[in-house]
Amino acid sequence: MEVLVCKTREKAVALTARIIEKRLRAKPASVLGMATGRTMEEVYTNLVQSGVSFAQTTTFNLDEYVGLLAEDPNSYASYMRHHLFDHVDIDLTKTHLPDGMAEDLRAAAQAYEAEITKAGGIDLQLLGIGETGHIGFNEPFSALRSRTRDKVLTPATRQQNAECFGGDINKVPVRAVTMGVETILEARELLLLACGSAKANMIAKAIEGPLCAAITASALQIHQNCVVVLDEQAAAELMQREYFDLVIANENKWDEYRDLI
Ligand code: F6R
Repeated sequence: MEVLVCKTREKAVALTARIIEKRLRAKPASVLGMATGRTMEEVYTNLVQSGVSFAQTTTFNLDEYVGLLAEDPNSYASYMRHHLFDHVDIDLTKTHLPDGMAEDLRAAAQAYEAEITKAGGIDLQLLGIGETGHIGFNEPFSALRSRTRDKVLTPATRQQNAECFGGDINKVPVRAVTMGVETILEARELLLLACGSAKANMIAKAIEGPLCAAITASALQIHQNCVVVLDEQAAAELMQREYFDLVIANENKWDEYRDLI
């Protein structure tokens, strides 16, 4: 795992977007794993502004609420259209989200996994981290070998997301379909972005703590190609900060990104 700490939130967001942009320019037919949430909104804004083409790109989102129609303004399908798909040249038939309206959620989740496999697997998976330490909606005690399935959300996650539902936690769906931890770990490259002090404690535990199902983001420790991008606030509780900075300072591959670090 490489940990990149940027001086500001704006730089962290711009760095994340630039990494994605570079991958797309190098391989326009990339398969991208997408995340939603507030942190990603500005990443998508940056990507739209970059002008990079998505014409050949295939996407798979991490998760979707159970019981929300794709047209519902709070669905992640709407989120993706609003923040990215409506503003780029992507072929919508190449975009995928888990089906939270399926009668048989389990069968739909298995079909989603099959679609990912058919597309050749995910090249780059974008990730955020929740205040419960989740990646996707893999809440605490999700199996580290979990696959795409529906999951009950913790009250903390529903509270975290209540803002989009008029501040009313009761309006936030109780369940969501999410890629599993193992599904996520199968992506060839992982890129996690976290900003702000609310994420500092979980970031330190996920990166430097023991590998455990109580904090599913800790599973990233076993991935061979994982980059974590942070702003100073999110990095504030890291104990190995100096070493992380030293690694980045001595890796030539980061030279082209130094203006954003
Ligand atoms: C969203 C997702 C979640 C979020 C996480 C952080 O698709 O999978 O794991 O990335 O909850 O959300 P924000 O950015 O709103 O703090």
